[in-house]
Amino acid sequence: MHDGYLKVEQSGPLCGQVELSGAKNAVLVTIASLILTNGTSILHNVPASADVFAMGELLTGLGATVFFDAKKHQFFVDTTLLHSWAVDGQIMQKTRTSILAMGPLLARFGKAKLGGLPGGDAIGKRPIDYHVKNFEKMGTVIRQETEFLSAHVEKLAGTRLVLEYPSVGATENLIMAATMAQGTTEIINAACEPEVFDLIAALTKMGAKIAIESPATILIEGVSVLQPIEHTIMVDRLEAGSLLIAAAATGGEIYIPNANAQVLDVFLLKLEEMGHIITVGENNKGIHLKSAPFPQAVSLKTDSYPGFPTDLQAPMMALQCVAQGTSIIEETVFENRFHHAHELMKMGANIKIEHNKATIVGVPSLSGAAVKASDIRASMALVVAGLGARGTTMIAGLHHWKRGYDALEKKLQNLGANISTHETNGSVIIPEIIVKPLQLTER
Ligand code: UD1
Repeated sequence: MHDGYLKVEQSGPLCGQVELSGAKNAVLVTIASLILTNGTSILHNVPASADVFAMGELLTGLGATVFFDAKKHQFFVDTTLLHSWAVDGQIMQKTRTSILAMGPLLARFGKAKLGGLPGGDAIGKRPIDYHVKNFEKMGTVIRQETEFLSAHVEKLAGTRLVLEYPSVGATENLIMAATMAQGTTEIINAACEPEVFDLIAALTKMGAKIAIESPATILIEGVSVLQPIEHTIMVDRLEAGSLLIAAAATGGEIYIPNANAQVLDVFLLKLEEMGHIITVGENNKGIHLKSAPFPQAVSLKTDSYPGFPTDLQAPMMALQCVAQGTSIIEETVFENRFHHAHELMKMGANIKIEHNKATIVGVPSLSGAAVKASDIRASMALVVAGLGARGTTMIAGLHHWKRGYDALEKKLQNLGANISTHETNGSVIIPEIIVKPLQLTER
């Protein structure tokens, strides 16, 4: 397997202006939704991340013609000759989003065969029971074996579906299935993440009939045909958050003109509580951060939108490691999303984990070390830690970074970060680094 590592040196304050790419979590599902259409669609603002290529491979495997102009961030899909409802096991392993082909395949063919359960980040069990149970409620017969999952239905039937937790993926999969079901589908306790609304915007352009009812109900009236579309993917709020954290970790000052502050409210509140100065432009467009000279530790609890995003928990933890005071971080979305904490400890962080709670006592500084990224956001956390740490940090698991971000290392370099990526073939050999022993003094 191709992999590699990131090398991060202690960097001065990150300063300057930076533009966001399109949102990974919005584009992957939107690519899956094109299975519902017949003809050529164009998506704009598509990030060139590895998961996007994997979803392109998925559609190609079904018979679609896919062309991705990664430089212009344009993704073309012609679904006219799409004829297969079987997703290869290898593709299923590459990205968890492959499960999102199931709803559109059931809507288009009444059949879906998935060659295994979806892969993706190692952040807990990540079951698909909400997807399966609710497809069954819509009339689908599902057979789940270790090697594959097969499903068939004469015609999906609209009905009332209740999610016990507002799962993003289950909400998206069920919405897509319901767009072409017989009658009306009601999804109660639906996920309301901005990426779900970006999908709804794309589906509405296709001709889907979707309404939202307060507080979290999505109503979908089935239609018989959906048209190809041209759609611009929303900007990545998680990339925005990560860049702000990286700037804060180095005492920097950055401006992100195309960031939307409205979808980052709780996160921005926490940065302000730390003492960082956040200024937002007109209509919530554009975010400017000026770092606090002595950032204070803050506690937080992740939650579904509009709560603190679980995808920013890892980099935010890296920031707390060197803040003044004690922070308690509670992870409520995923059961096992603290792998990065153990790596941060190798860099000298003072963290105690108890179940889903991490207690972080700020230390004056971290030291570079050889560490391993276990998932996309963990890779970001280790980069944040490495930027502020004394010496060199080598981060194995480059493929995680590449799954989530479109050359984010270049954006960081332009802001002044000393970071580079190194591809290797086969196993990753990290050169040994000598880290000076660190005197830990609590503040
Ligand atoms: C999506 C995002 C991911 C983000 C997560 C939560 C994409 C491509 N990924 O992942 O970056 O971290 O939302 O905001 O959009 N669950 C079940 N059964 C199910 C489905 C989910 O128990 O059938 C549980 C999960 O194990 C987890 C929780 O629900 O504990 C939330 O998961 P979910 O919202 O589904 O996350 P994803 O859609 O996989």
